Amino acid sequence: MQEKYIDETKQGEAFAILEKPENGKKLFLESYGCQMNFSDSEIVASILNEQGYNTTLNVEEADLILLNTCSIREKAEQTVRMRLAQFKNLKKERPNMTVGVLGCMAERLKTKFLEEEQLVDLVVGPDAYRDLPNLLKETEDGRDAINVILSKEETYADINPVRLGGNGVTAFVTITRGCDNMCTFCVVPFTRGRERSRDPHSIIEECQSLWNNGYKEITLLGQNVDSYLWYGGGPKKDFAKASEMQKLTAINFAQLLDMVAVAVPKMRIRFSTSNPHEMTEEVFRMIAKHDNICNYVHLPVQSGSDRILQLMNRQHTRQEYLDLIKKGKEIVPDISFSQDMIIGFCTETEEDHQLTMSLMREVEYDYGYMFSYSTRPGTPAHKKLEDDIPADVKQRRLAEVIALQGELSRKRMQGYVGRVHEILIEGISKKNKNQWKGRNSQNAVCVFDMKEGQKLGDIVSVFVHGNTQGTLLGETVL
Ligand code: SAH
Ligand code: F3S
Repeated sequence: MQEKYIDETKQGEAFAILEKPENGKKLFLESYGCQMNFSDSEIVASILNEQGYNTTLNVEEADLILLNTCSIREKAEQTVRMRLAQFKNLKKERPNMTVGVLGCMAERLKTKFLEEEQLVDLVVGPDAYRDLPNLLKETEDGRDAINVILSKEETYADINPVRLGGNGVTAFVTITRGCDNMCTFCVVPFTRGRERSRDPHSIIEECQSLWNNGYKEITLLGQNVDSYLWYGGGPKKDFAKASEMQKLTAINFAQLLDMVAVAVPKMRIRFSTSNPHEMTEEVFRMIAKHDNICNYVHLPVQSGSDRILQLMNRQHTRQEYLDLIKKGKEIVPDISFSQDMIIGFCTETEEDHQLTMSLMREVEYDYGYMFSYSTRPGTPAHKKLEDDIPADVKQRRLAEVIALQGELSRKRMQGYVGRVHEILIEGISKKNKNQWKGRNSQNAVCVFDMKEGQKLGDIVSVFVHGNTQGTLLGETVL
């Protein structure tokens, strides 16, 4: 099973950053979890780079170790705890080394972290990264430092992220932070706070600057991109209090897409994550209108059963979801969809499980990210519902859903065979270093033999002649 969105091999990977005037100290920065965390690490790197920190890929020589953490499932937290345990001996040898925890676990556990993990000196939540220089001063004076204040405004709009460990071709651009949706299973509203949108001017400037620096694809990021709403600042919840002028000139997600597509006309544009209850037909129309917006929507559904959807507070029915998918297929005939599913949510019956499977068959997703339900302390489901599905039942249902997605993926990949696709060259294939790997507009990965004159970042026409379950096999056409 894949970890969400981020290449499995990148989980917990440390990165190097630019060399600037040095303060003589070395930072080791590791990220876990979703794309947003990887994007946030680029903001953290930028802030610390300004302070003169250089990065190292060798933890043994680090003066500052930072882990940007994920709380979405218990397993994600265990991974970080295990990683911290590995630093214990290092800290004994180098007592002056500072160890900090950033991101969602920092926000969820707050001071508990300092009590439970003796080696942690610094705890910083996702809205407090600007305070890092001050917090680090406190740790230099030998005190533990913590800032987990969540903000209603912070979007880090003016911070130019240092692009970490990427391929120089694809980049993330954050457009919203936080989430107001309160799905009952989800810890994100608690760890990332109120939803707020970033100033469209700063988004466009960042996209243009990426284009000028050779980037060829951006992914606009938010927990819930469809609820993007810019009216001059503040959380979306306060929109009702905005002035008439602010309301008249407000910009929604479809309009933002339109603006970005025009501002960087040759840049490939993707976005993640869409939320079925807020996604509009207008967004599909923008995909259809602009060639540079990819024909792909990640549209998590979590379950195919209305009863479970209601318990999850997803705010839409199975039929509404299917209607939205149908609209998308009508407006963008060559569109692809992927899903997130939670298997074994509280009270899930065999019948509910079958409804999830039948929905998957109906939609025919290209990909899926499927997880066993993991109860998260503090969430509404944890407080009000019993995590009552036995682990072996969850495992069996999860295996069935993964197997079904495998079949659907294979079928969808087969549908791409026999046609020419425009593929953006994003890197070298892991299995064969004489082959490129890239993706088509629908986000399907394609590998093909390198030809003279081709380079990273080129968009090339590839004839697809075969496929595996998740990959297209092709060759470039001249
Ligand atoms: N809107 C967000 C969702 C973040 S959570 C986004 O940007 O994708 C990502 C996925 O993790 C969810 O769609 C859900 O499928 C899964 N997830 C969230 N909470 C979970 C839990 N308690 N147990 C298992 N999976 C969970
Ligand atoms: Fe979580 Fe639902 Fe928001 S899954 S991130 S509360 S849309």
